Amino acid sequence: MDELEAILAAAPQEIDATESIKELDELENRLTGRKSVLAELRRSLGNLDEKDRPTMGARLNEAASELNALLTARRRVLERSAEDQLLVDDAVDVTLPGVGSTTGTHHLITQTIDELVDIFLALGYQVADGPEIETSWHNFDALNTPWWHPSRLQSDTMYVDYGDPRDELPLRTHTSPVQARVMVDQDPPVYVVVPGRCYRTDTFDASHSPVFHQIEGLAVAEGITFGDLKGTLLHFAQEYFGKERSIELVPHFFPFTEPSAEMHVSCFSCDGSGCRVCGQSGWIELLGCGMVDPNVFEAVGYDPAAVTGFAFGGGIERIAMVRHGIADIRHFFDNDLRVNRQFV
Ligand code: DAH
Repeated sequence: MDELEAILAAAPQEIDATESIKELDELENRLTGRKSVLAELRRSLGNLDEKDRPTMGARLNEAASELNALLTARRRVLERSAEDQLLVDDAVDVTLPGVGSTTGTHHLITQTIDELVDIFLALGYQVADGPEIETSWHNFDALNTPWWHPSRLQSDTMYVDYGDPRDELPLRTHTSPVQARVMVDQDPPVYVVVPGRCYRTDTFDASHSPVFHQIEGLAVAEGITFGDLKGTLLHFAQEYFGKERSIELVPHFFPFTEPSAEMHVSCFSCDGSGCRVCGQSGWIELLGCGMVDPNVFEAVGYDPAAVTGFAFGGGIERIAMVRHGIADIRHFFDNDLRVNRQFV
């Protein structure tokens, strides 16, 4: 019993001196566990005289609850300070700059297509598209380009299926076959632009790529004139290259337009006086155009006596190269991030 009183007297200080839950657990075990003095005394109660047992038992219970109260109080203090420490250790400085995630951007070809298409959407045009594997009829015949035309040779055009001109399947060599598709599908008036991928047997070099993109335009209605074509292309040139631009239409030949022309835009870099961008000529060749040939109208089932129309088509890469001063078409396809990141 003396031993227990000594333990009780020392306990408050001992308990307060613990600095961790682990230390407290060990002390608790020593003070109240199975091998503690308290437990031993409890076990020996049976050996006592019957008259001494109640007082002794009551004192032991009192001692136990005294110890438990002290232990519980200390445990609360230690738990709280462990939590406080955790908050300190895990603290996040919300004022630090974040790691951030980078979002991608559209490729320059897509950006150029979007910008060109927007110019024509604002004029009331719609966007049309067609397949990249095309029939020879849409790609050539309907566009007044007969079976014997040299551009149909296997050396010029890539074929999925080559042979009988009636059912052979080329990879489309331009976006012009979509003109035929739209007119076969719908009655005039027609106002469409067609951006898309095209294929030719060109060798990959600074100015050629066997895979490239074009944008096509087609307007068909009663009374459309060459003046409408010129006005539309001038508007396009000024929207895309700046209000100061002028254009010239130089006679040319395409099987599916008559008359046909090549559209030149005055150089935005030197304003027409001659520089490296325009090769000293003051003019930049941009696209092909003309009045839709009556043979095309006949092929798609339109009456050439009732409607007239104009069409134009040009390379997207070429337009973007001119505008952004890109010297090599391969930059569009190499996916070199140092290049791509310049056009975000
Ligand atoms: N399809 C022609 C080419 O790839 C470009 C072209 C010229 C399109 C005249 C037209 C046009 O719509 O009228 O070279």
